[in-house]
Amino acid sequence: MEPRDLSDHSTYVPGRGVEEVARERGMDPDDLIKLSSNENPHGPSPAAVEAIRAHADRVNAYPKSAHTDLTAKIASTWDVDPSQVWLSAGADGSIDYLSRAFLEPGDAVLVPTPGFAYYGMSARYHHGEANEYALSAADGFTQDAETVLTAYGGERIVYLTSPHNPTGSTVSLEEVRAIADATAEETLVVVDEPTASSRRWTARCRSSPNATTWRSSGHSRRRTGSPGSGSGTASSPRRGATRTPG
Ligand SMILES: Cc1ncc(COP(=O)(O)O)c(C=O)c1O
Repeated sequence: MEPRDLSDHSTYVPGRGVEEVARERGMDPDDLIKLSSNENPHGPSPAAVEAIRAHADRVNAYPKSAHTDLTAKIASTWDVDPSQVWLSAGADGSIDYLSRAFLEPGDAVLVPTPGFAYYGMSARYHHGEANEYALSAADGFTQDAETVLTAYGGERIVYLTSPHNPTGSTVSLEEVRAIADATAEETLVVVDEPTASSRRWTARCRSSPNATTWRSSGHSRRRTGSPGSGSGTASSPRRGATRTPG
């Protein structure tokens, strides 16, 4: 058997738990707060706790696969068609869906550096490649069209993050439009909004004059303070949602 060549992949080193760090440093775990991976020191939202409790005795069955009710509710909240809403296991799930749907072996994505590592990881897991555009501390890690387009070489997906992880810089709708307009029709410009309300973004994306370019906004349920049980959501313009290969 010929194993797959994974030498291009870097090993993901997850953050350590509070208990491990406390043990190593001889501290009381209660004196430490973990903030490295979206943990919320204030605990989960009471509404999230209540919803989990209310459904705990039903985990013996798989959930509905269509999620029709949830999709309809999100579509109505965001004022989009249900066919434009995707649900996924975390925002990482949406990123994986995009990789699966878009990347042929050898296709590349364009990602910010520094930036959220999973964009490139997901592309590589799906036999793609990751090229980078550099954000610089000297100009406040600004994500503008010039920075992205200077590095752009026809990649299949261009990732923007707003607010950016790890720097917190934001990207304006004008810059997103400029990037979408200057990139190829076959390039998907993704705006990943990990913490903001997507209603705002979907409305802004829908008003774009460039109907041929997809934009998605993925965000997790971090606002509920429950990253451990998060779902991901993404929306796409109507054309993208109904597009078939070829
Ligand atoms: C920019 C960005 N996108 C996506 C994600 C993944 O979110 P989730 O935990 O919902 O998979 C994160 C998580 O930190 C992130 O920072």
